Amino acid sequence: MSSIDARQVPVDTTSAERLAAKGLGYRSVDAQGDAFGDYYRAVSRGFLGPEPEDKEIAAARDKKIERPERLIGVYDEAEPDGFPVGTVGSWVTPMTVPGGTVDLWAISDVTVAGTHRRRGIARAMLEGELRSAAAAGVPIAGLTVTEGTIYGRYGFGPAVQTAEVTVDAVRAGWRSYEPSAAVRYVPREALVEAFAEVAEASHRDGGTPAWTGRRQQFAGVHPSVTSGEKVRGVVARDADGNAVGAMSFRLVEEGDYTKHELKIVHLEAATADAYAALWRFAISHDLVAKVTAELQPVDGALPWLVADPKAVAQKAGDHVWLRILDVPRALEARTYAGEGASHAMNAAGVLRVHDPLGFTDGTWRVEIEAGTARVFPSEMDPDVEIGIAELSAAYLGGVPLRTLADAGRVSGSDSALERIDAALRPARAPHHGFIF
Ligand SMILES: CC(C)(COP(=O)(O)OP(=O)(O)OC[C@H]1O[C@@H](n2cnc3c(N)ncnc32)[C@H](O)[C@@H]1OP(=O)(O)O)[C@@H](O)C(=O)NCCC(=O)NCCS
Repeated sequence: MSSIDARQVPVDTTSAERLAAKGLGYRSVDAQGDAFGDYYRAVSRGFLGPEPEDKEIAAARDKKIERPERLIGVYDEAEPDGFPVGTVGSWVTPMTVPGGTVDLWAISDVTVAGTHRRRGIARAMLEGELRSAAAAGVPIAGLTVTEGTIYGRYGFGPAVQTAEVTVDAVRAGWRSYEPSAAVRYVPREALVEAFAEVAEASHRDGGTPAWTGRRQQFAGVHPSVTSGEKVRGVVARDADGNAVGAMSFRLVEEGDYTKHELKIVHLEAATADAYAALWRFAISHDLVAKVTAELQPVDGALPWLVADPKAVAQKAGDHVWLRILDVPRALEARTYAGEGASHAMNAAGVLRVHDPLGFTDGTWRVEIEAGTARVFPSEMDPDVEIGIAELSAAYLGGVPLRTLADAGRVSGSDSALERIDAALRPARAPHHGFIF
């Protein structure tokens, strides 16, 4: 957990004033208070969900307290029913980056009522979140998004991709080594514990910790999950009996009893061996013709484990969007590869960063020595011109600057782009395995 409690960060006065001028109140909501029920009903309605039952509201309250989360509601003062017309929640959490972790201002619950849309409520809430995060000294904000067109305007860029994987289990076969981890069924409650046990070691760059309710959802024992009894689970243990992987799944009959689909709900593997053991269990399951899994690493070893790589279809897409708020602190929080690591003092480059909201706008000289960056404001001519959304997208090395330059979204000489890409490149693709 981070040392910063987002609940202690004051509500942004600029957004409060801007919304007040439109007759809208902008205030914090206490997760333990009476207003929380309507806050959560508004969130559920905003995400097109059903009217939540009391037990679901209680579970949501527990989640907010556990994270611990700052909640903000926007209220139409002309409608005194106490029901918010805008919602947003945020908490500070460690995010894994190369060489360590960085504090992330994680944002969730962004909804605006259908009756109040396109009046600037979301903009006020988002900008308010970014100003609050910056004021609290948190160098990066991030979220998972419903639509790819909403957040670029605030400086967020897609930094972590995931893959939707579909395996033709009849065709796939197995051509790799025999995994040594033992895979065993466990009751769903035990699965919740196993996911917690395995999680930390399985974090990749871009990963953040889940919370109890999310693990209960993975295991099918959370009040928000329908037909949770259909969720099954297995745990992979190493020779010493330690849990090294866990997987929950549903078996769905597709009209032919011999051709079930095994839908992986969540798969967490702390070792390559556990990953192989769990996938082998899934694709060699009797009466299963197809295995599907969402939110998988884009560089997973699966196609290299099976006999027929054409049996594995992978569809990659954006998942976690990041927004750097402090260039020196964000870049200095991670380590770097490439030539910079072996040279005494190797300037990776001078970046001219464009930030329409002003947080990071300026020219920054990045020096990398022995894999560590130092970043200073600079008057030098830039090697690279880049928007803050693009820098945020490239921060974990999930997309090369070269690709962004090819798309006309970054400019710079080939040698500068190559040098910076070599430094940013991670050993493995960043990954984040759930929605938040
Ligand atoms: C997305 C949502 C929060 C936007 O709320 P809103 O108050 O209508 O947005 P605003 O009026 O503040 O619009 C701000 C800007 O975003 C744009 N925008 C808003 N919703 C958009 C959408 N769905 N797609 C693309 N652009 C959008 C607006 O055109 C406006 O652009 P501009 O300021 O650059 O001119 C709202 O439509 C909603 O609740 N959607 C359903 C839930 C959801 O998907 N939430 C996002 C969770 S990640």
